[in-house]
Amino acid sequence: MYRTKTCGELRLSDVGTVVTLAGWVQRSRKMGGMTFVDLRDRYGLTQLVFNEEIDKNLCERANKMGREFCIQVTGTVSERQSKNKNIDTGDIEIITNSLNVLSESLTPPFTIEDNTDGGDDIRMKYRYLDLRRPVVRKNMELRHRMTILIRNFLDSKAFIEVETPILIGSTPEGARDFVVPSRMNPGQFYALPQSPQTLKQLLMVSGFDRYFQIAKCFRDEDLRADRQPEFTQVDCEMSFVDQDDVLNLFEDMARHLFKEIRGVDLPAKLQQMTWHEAMRRFGSDKPDLRFGMEFVELMDILKGTGEFSVFNEAAYVGGICVPGCANYTRKQLDTLTEFVKRSQIGAKGLVWAKVNEDGTVKSSVDKFYSSDVLQNMKEAFKANPGDLILILSGDNANKTRIQLCALRLEMGERLGLRDKNKFECLWIIDFPLFEWSEEEQRLMATHHPFTMPNPDDIPLLDEHPENVRAKAYDFVCNGIEVGGGSLRIHEGQLQEKMFKILGFTPERAMSQFGFLINAFKYGAPPHAGLAFGLDRWVSIMAGLDSIRDCIAFPKNNSGRDVMLDAPSEIDKKQLDELQLKVDLSQEK
Ligand code: AMO
Repeated sequence: MYRTKTCGELRLSDVGTVVTLAGWVQRSRKMGGMTFVDLRDRYGLTQLVFNEEIDKNLCERANKMGREFCIQVTGTVSERQSKNKNIDTGDIEIITNSLNVLSESLTPPFTIEDNTDGGDDIRMKYRYLDLRRPVVRKNMELRHRMTILIRNFLDSKAFIEVETPILIGSTPEGARDFVVPSRMNPGQFYALPQSPQTLKQLLMVSGFDRYFQIAKCFRDEDLRADRQPEFTQVDCEMSFVDQDDVLNLFEDMARHLFKEIRGVDLPAKLQQMTWHEAMRRFGSDKPDLRFGMEFVELMDILKGTGEFSVFNEAAYVGGICVPGCANYTRKQLDTLTEFVKRSQIGAKGLVWAKVNEDGTVKSSVDKFYSSDVLQNMKEAFKANPGDLILILSGDNANKTRIQLCALRLEMGERLGLRDKNKFECLWIIDFPLFEWSEEEQRLMATHHPFTMPNPDDIPLLDEHPENVRAKAYDFVCNGIEVGGGSLRIHEGQLQEKMFKILGFTPERAMSQFGFLINAFKYGAPPHAGLAFGLDRWVSIMAGLDSIRDCIAFPKNNSGRDVMLDAPSEIDKKQLDELQLKVDLSQEK
């Protein structure tokens, strides 16, 4: 037996017993004739003592060990004189009498402790060492625990886990596919699934009724803190359900997870907010409800009531009231103006107004407005003395709202209101079925082409498809979209109509989705589903800034795995087998 105990479990009650431990040398300190070594494994840290007076040779061998040597020791558990309250095993130490170096270590490139001196790149290059750090390991343990809880919850609700293939066909719509050339079918390509969407719908046609899968998904899209090219979904689909059945069930799952993992009770019923309301009040389809600063629309108050042409010509004028920030200096206000003018946000400028202690208003545009108008504006915000009002305007209402949303989140961040230990979850419902794509100059499915239109809006499909609401929903927590899904079309004619609106010819729809269209001809049940982003959920529960921190081997922002050095070129022989030629002459 390599070990009889782990490094995290010995307590005062074990004093006097002989134990064998195995693990890694975290730190070694020589004090007089004694050497103290902190031994680490997955379960914790235990102090080992080597005493020159008891065994000089053993102590000399211990002194030669470097950080991260992998060792096995045997010794007697003893009560520590100076106890360490910071670790679970801090009451005891091991008086070591045998040492076996299992494997030596080079000096690691960064300190393997919670606080490390290693930057992102170096930690990712040596991710196997980074994963030895307790903070990182804990994220992986949490992920494991959540996965088990999810599996058990869904199992208890009669869901069955079915694996679906990774090598599938490319489908348009959605993000860009990752593709894989086929050697046996030269010139043809598989695509990696962006999600198992169509496959889970086929499983409903097969009568599986309740399906789930902890599924790997692949999307070739621009990366952000909450996006990886390869990520994991808790993917689910159900037959014979309506929207409330789905929302209730997954709300229960969310409630169960929050209770088990964080000891938090979510409200008995989660708020449901329509997409339109979310856009109007927060400028986002994933509003962060941990703090207020709701939008106030000012068109009635500031358009045409003064000489400020920017507002007079705008389609939208709106703002937020930031409590207690009227003391912002000119420099701080300039920084906020620079913030909203950044290319990612794209506002043209920022108007501010401060509510003075005596209730009067001082504003960057006060020369254009009477004090009555400024007072009306103050009233609209219900602003108090000491508050700062920030206003944006623009010729496209939703674009301006999105800019104002960025400002609201920035102010929430600055005021410390985005508390990681507070959880505000809600459903966003009634998404528009289509959105206009500037790039493609056509309507695209907001969710995907199989999403059911709201039955009340079906008459609008021909004339005003842009006004049709979808039976689609997102689960949002703390301003992050954690999950999304919809009721599906299960009826051929309606599906054909959708494809038509999306610009597919019947031939193209058949060639790309024929398998689904045909399957629906064999008694397709009404069905609906949803997928949660597991990485996002774990990172919210763990209070992480990036989902990378809960993925064992993540990619960096350029989509590279710096440890494996992937992607990489492949041998000419491999290319020849695939009958492929690489032509980089177009590369910019
Ligand atoms: P959707 O595209 O909304 O829906 O994805 C579902 C959830 O997956 C997570 N997610 C991501 N997580 C990390 N990195 C990414 N690049 C990434 N992209 C998405 C999000 C998101 O809410 N098939 C549908 C679901 C359905 O209709 O049943 C789908 O994939 O948390």
